[in-house]
Formats: sequence, C-alpha cells, structure tokens
Amino acid sequence: MRSETEGDSVHLGRVLITRDEIETRVRELAQEISTDYAGTVPIFISLLKGGFIFLADLVRNLSIPHEIDFITVRSYGSGIERSERIEILNDLNRNVTGRDVIIIDDIVDTGHTLCALEQMLMERNVRSLRICALLDKPSCREVAIDVHYVGFRVPDVFVVGYGLDFMERYRSLAYIAELIPGSPKESGEVRETRAMDDEKEHGELQGPHHREKGTNARAQEKEKESGKA
Ligand code: PRP
Repeated sequence: MRSETEGDSVHLGRVLITRDEIETRVRELAQEISTDYAGTVPIFISLLKGGFIFLADLVRNLSIPHEIDFITVRSYGSGIERSERIEILNDLNRNVTGRDVIIIDDIVDTGHTLCALEQMLMERNVRSLRICALLDKPSCREVAIDVHYVGFRVPDVFVVGYGLDFMERYRSLAYIAELIPGSPKESGEVRETRAMDDEKEHGELQGPHHREKGTNARAQEKEKESGKA
C-alpha cells in the first residue's frame, strides 16, 4: 500500500481546464459526432485506462445509437523504439470489421500509441476510423497522426485529472491540472486559472493540455531511485 507521503515529490499546480470547460467542450464534441455519424451506429473504443472518464461523459451526450468497447495496450521497445510498437493487454470484445470506429483517448502526446492502434484496427478492416482525444499536445508529436476530434490543445506541461494520472493518482479529478515537481511552497496551492489566461501566456493555446510522456518516465525513474516507487 502506498503511503500518504509518497506524493510529496509532486504537487498540483494551476487548474488548466475547469470542470465547466470540460463539460461544455465534451457536449460540443458529442453534438458534432452525432451529426457526423447520423444514420450509422459507430463503435466507440476507449483506450484504457486514461480514456474511461472521457468516454463515459461523451457517450452520455450522444444523440445517436452507438456501441462501446475497451482496449488496453502497452507500448514496448527501448530507446528510440520505446513507444513505436504496442502490445495488447486486453483486446476488444466486439468484432470491428466493417464498422465505423471512433477511438477515444485522454491525450495524444508523441502519437505513437494511437498510430500503432490505428494501424492495428485498419488491419481488422474497419469501415472507417477516426480519433477523438480530449487533449492534444502537438508540440510533443513524433509521428504524424490525424486527430479528428480534439477537446483542447495543451502546452508542454505535465497534466493530470479527468483520466490522466501520475503513478495512478489524480485520475478522478474533475478538472485538468498541471503537476509540479517538488513540494508545494504553501498548502492549498491549487489555483483556478482559466485556459484563456494560459492562452495569453503560451501564445497559441487553443483549448487543451496534455502531459509529457518523457517527463512522466523521468519522474517515475526518480521515484524508483529514491526508493519510493
Ligand atoms: C497515455 C495516454 C495515451 C498515451 C499517449 O497512456 O492515455 O494513451 O499515453 O502517449 P503517446 O502519444 O506518447 O503514445 P498511458 O500509457 O500513460 O496509460 P494510461 O492510459 O493507463 O494512463
């Protein structure tokens, strides 16, 4: 069992996307998808674990018939190839051949995970395939990938909440926040900062945030080295 003090090495910083902003954007995406897929019965595939909260909220706002399924994958390899291939840990239950498929994920970072998943699903002869991600972090992209539906674009900071974790913590936050290394300078440091403010700060922010995969890996290495993991 993890101890309460294990979180001391990181703390929550700014709230980048509020609960209200997420709710509004998820509703908009659901309406757009409902219009685009009118007359069809698409399958929404949630990439676990990060995509489960987004999927749950999205499908409850759809106005078209649909099905859902889940898949868990793990990237593997080493060095440059680290994320270029995926291993399926839990496969789909549904046969997707000939179906309209929409992959639902929390964040697109390097793009390797979704690129590999997209290729795998295409090999199963789906009728059509689109990706819907709550967050997109284009500055970290290593492979070209077409993300058809994007909730928010985020700057290159480590983000948690609404499905996104740090060592399995923070997934259930109702908002997206920045995770800061080290201890908080003062307690209750979480500040409500609207995405609009961040846009001014970072220039081209259009909506979302996402975490940096490398940062996460480095943070976990650090935790292991200090004997906390
Ligand atoms: C995260 C996220 C995406 C992927 C994005 O999953 O949910 O699936 O990484 O990274 P990429 O674009 O660089 O490939 P993670 O492996 O952290 O697992 P989780 O969803 O269980 O948290």
